[in-house]
Amino acid sequence: MNIVILAAGQGKRMHSNLPKVLHPLAGKALVAHVIDTARLLKPQTLCLVYGHGGEALQQTIVAPDLRWALQNPQHGTGHAVMQALPHLGDAPTTLILYGDVPLIQAATLERLLHAARDALAILTVELADPTGYGRIVRDAAGEVLRIVEQRDASAEERAIHEINTGIIALPTTRLAEWLSRLSNDNAQGEYYLTDIVGMAVEAGVTIRTAQPDEAWEVLGVNSKVQLAELERVAQRRIAERLLEQGVRLADPARLDVRGELRCGRDVFIDVNCVFEGEVVLEEAVEIASTCVIKNARIGAGSRVAPFSHIEDAVVGPDGVIGPFARLRPGTELAAGVHIGNFVELKNSRFAANSKANHLAYVGDAIVGSRVNIGAGTITCNYDGANKFKTVIEDDAFIGSDTQLVAPVTVGRGATLGAGTTLTKDAPPDALTISRAKQVTIPGWKRPQKPKK
Ligand code: UD1
Ligand code: CA
Repeated sequence: MNIVILAAGQGKRMHSNLPKVLHPLAGKALVAHVIDTARLLKPQTLCLVYGHGGEALQQTIVAPDLRWALQNPQHGTGHAVMQALPHLGDAPTTLILYGDVPLIQAATLERLLHAARDALAILTVELADPTGYGRIVRDAAGEVLRIVEQRDASAEERAIHEINTGIIALPTTRLAEWLSRLSNDNAQGEYYLTDIVGMAVEAGVTIRTAQPDEAWEVLGVNSKVQLAELERVAQRRIAERLLEQGVRLADPARLDVRGELRCGRDVFIDVNCVFEGEVVLEEAVEIASTCVIKNARIGAGSRVAPFSHIEDAVVGPDGVIGPFARLRPGTELAAGVHIGNFVELKNSRFAANSKANHLAYVGDAIVGSRVNIGAGTITCNYDGANKFKTVIEDDAFIGSDTQLVAPVTVGRGATLGAGTTLTKDAPPDALTISRAKQVTIPGWKRPQKPKK
């Protein structure tokens, strides 16, 4: 089949400079959800009708197989499909989707397409409050006659609860002819795609309807309110999928996944964590409350304590991270590494079983195995213009409150005394210390406040 995604509408009610269909839902643009679902159906051609923010759209949606049809100005859904016509292949069926109806599922569309194999098929739902939607008008025998828009409907027609979701599958061969016969003689002065249904009935084409598996599949986004509602729907589904896979979630309603989260067995995630981009939690990983983890892999058996922030980083197996740890891009930790509170790592590699447990900044560093980095250690990696490397070899011990002025190397097994400002390499297996001599001034008196 061909698939046409309508996305030219402006989205005024979003009150945003971002084109409506680029607003993110679960970390992915609305229209990208639709494109991904469309792809599951293996269409012969996939065409996006756009009207606003073409440049922004083409930057965000990287899809070499996607055909772009500009509709400017926008004269209605029928007019939108006309713009797609030159891009369509000769597949017998053309499926129309909306770029702002992001959660439509492939299983529902497959059923609709099955209904459309020798017919025109409309995806409909019964709504308690059908206000605003096109109504499905049927005859006494229950056969579909036409679709009437809210604004053109009689009082009797407005009482109909079965509505047009807008998702329709049509016979491609008739499409061009029907579209050419559309008129804009209606309440909105638009070319309605829905008028094609009446034409199909006249031409003796069978009309079938199908319903979505879930009501939320056909919900559209016209405002931030609706976007927020659909975000909750999307998050609940993600949480349910994780639970079904065996992930233990402290509360499925307090988890946000904005991208792809893959989990091994016996993973536990406490409340209020945010996962962005591609995150992998290997077997038996525990993520405590209020962690933000983006594009990262956390190795088997590792524990991440509360309020940790991890981005573009790899944590090896059996790590202990946080609370309040910050792993910035380029952090790579081997097995059994401990990174404690208020420790910031950037572009640094730690080999197995090394520790930085308190209050430290380690940037542009290569750290060996079994290294202990004391509280208050800072790699001075930046001179205001250039960045330099720090190398700390296996079994080194870095005393508290040490500055490592890069480029500098701490040799294997070296010890740095507390408070050292290291500006030259520290040789292996020796104590290196830079510290002003301690003096005591006997009989020294504290200054006194003047007596009143
Ligand atoms: C349309 C249907 C209505 C249905 C409703 C479901 C028509 C005439 N009416 O109504 O029966 O109940 O959807 O939500 O089809 N779009 C364009 N170009 C345009 C106009 C719209 O690309 O010129 C796109 C929009 O971006 C949107 C979709 O088509 O994705 C629907 O447009 P919208 O204005 O929301 O549809 P309605 O007129 O409300
Ligand atoms: Ca409209």
